[in-house]
Amino acid sequence: MDYENAVPIVQIKNVSKYFGDNQVLKKINLDIYKGEFLTLLGSSGCGKTTTLRIIAGFEIPTEGSVVIANKDATNLQPYNRDVNTVFQSYALFTHMNVFDNIAFGLVEKKIKKSEIKKKVEEILELVQLNNFEKRKPSEMSGGQKQRVAIARALINNPKVLLLDEPLAALDLKLRKQMQLELKHLQQQLGVTFVYVTHDQEEALTMSDRIGVMNKGILEQIGTPKEIYEQPKTKFVADFIGESNIFEATVSKKIGKNLELVIEDGSVSAIGNEFKKNEIVSISVRLEHMKLSKEPIEGFCLNGVIKEHIYTGSNIKTVVQLPSGKCIKLNNHPDTELNSKGTLVNVYWDLEKAVVMHTKDDSLYNIINDAVFK
Ligand SMILES: Nc1ncnc2c1ncn2[C@@H]1O[C@H](COP(=O)(O)OP(=O)(O)OP(=O)(O)O)[C@@H](O)[C@H]1O
Ligand SMILES: [Mg+2]
Repeated sequence: MDYENAVPIVQIKNVSKYFGDNQVLKKINLDIYKGEFLTLLGSSGCGKTTTLRIIAGFEIPTEGSVVIANKDATNLQPYNRDVNTVFQSYALFTHMNVFDNIAFGLVEKKIKKSEIKKKVEEILELVQLNNFEKRKPSEMSGGQKQRVAIARALINNPKVLLLDEPLAALDLKLRKQMQLELKHLQQQLGVTFVYVTHDQEEALTMSDRIGVMNKGILEQIGTPKEIYEQPKTKFVADFIGESNIFEATVSKKIGKNLELVIEDGSVSAIGNEFKKNEIVSISVRLEHMKLSKEPIEGFCLNGVIKEHIYTGSNIKTVVQLPSGKCIKLNNHPDTELNSKGTLVNVYWDLEKAVVMHTKDDSLYNIINDAVFK
C-alpha cells in the first residue's frame, strides 16, 4: 500500500454514537484509503460493529459525519452508498441456489440475463466455487457459504466492502486458509476492505493498517508493525501480542535517556517527550527481555527464575520479582537455561522498551501546568 499518494475513500469525522445514555463511540476520526485493507480490532463490545454499521448506513451517528468518495453520506440510505456488507452469519437466501443468491442484486437492477450469467461465472471463478451454481446453502460447508456471501457482495462492484468477523464461525485451519485467500482477493481486485475482528493475529496477518479500539475510543491507527512495535497506549501494548508492562516514574532525564523507578527497582529506557517525575507505562516484548548473572549498567532489577515453559518454537521463562509480580521472556529452544531458583538481573536493550504516557498523565499535566503558571 502506497500511503504517499493515498486517496481517502471513507472518512469518519468526529463520530460519536449513543444508544440511550450509553455512549458507545467517542469522537472517532478515521480516514480509510482507496484500495486499503483496514481492520478494526478490539475486544467484545468496544464498538467495532457499530462503526461498520455507521459506514454502511444501518446506523446514523449521534454526532459527526461520514464522507464516502468525497460525498457527505451521513444520512444516506444504505442502498445509496457505494458499500456492501458481508456478515458473520452469511445471511444467504436459504431457498435459493448459489447462482440465484449471487445474481440477486443484478436481477433487481434488471440487468440482461446473459450479462448476469457471465458476471456470476466470473465471480465464482474468483472465489473458487466453479460448478457450485446449483447447490443450496444447506448443501455447503461454512467456508463455502462464506465465499458465496463474499461473491454476492462483490458482484455489485462496491467501492468499499465491509466485513464483520466473516471468518469467526470457521475452524482454525479453514480460517487461516480463508485469511490468505481473502487478502489475495482484495489485492487482486483493489477494492477497499474494512474488516472487523477481535482476533489480533488475524488483524496482523491481513491488514495494511489496523485501528485498535477500546471502549468506544480509537486508541491507535497504524500498520501492523507500528502497532506491534510502537504501541501508543498501555491497552494497545497489552492487547496485541504479549508484553511485560511496568508502571514507572521518570526519575532522571538526560537528553532522551530516561531513568525510571518501578515498584521492584530502577530501569532505563529512551523517550523524547517525557518529563521528570512523570508517571508512565513501559512495555517490553517477551523477545526483548534479557537476563544476566552480572549487574547491568542502568538497571537495578533482580528476580528469581520461577519456571521454564516449553512451547515448541521457543521456551518461555517466568521470572518473579521481589513484589511477587512475574515477568515473562522468550528464549530460543537451544538456549542454555538457568535452573529454577537462580537469582538473575533483568534488563533490556534501551531502544527495545516502549515508554507510554498513562491516563494519570493528564492529571499530571494539569498539576504541572498549575505549578508552573
Ligand atoms: N442497537 C443497540 N441498542 C443498544 N445498544 C447497542 C446496540 N447495538 C450495540 N449496542 C451496544 O453498543 C456497544 C458496542 O457494540 P458493538 O456491537 O459495536 O460491539 P463490537 O465491538 O462489535 O463487539 P463484538 O466483538 O462482541 O461483536 C455494546 O455495549 C452494545 O451492547
Ligand atoms: Mg461486533
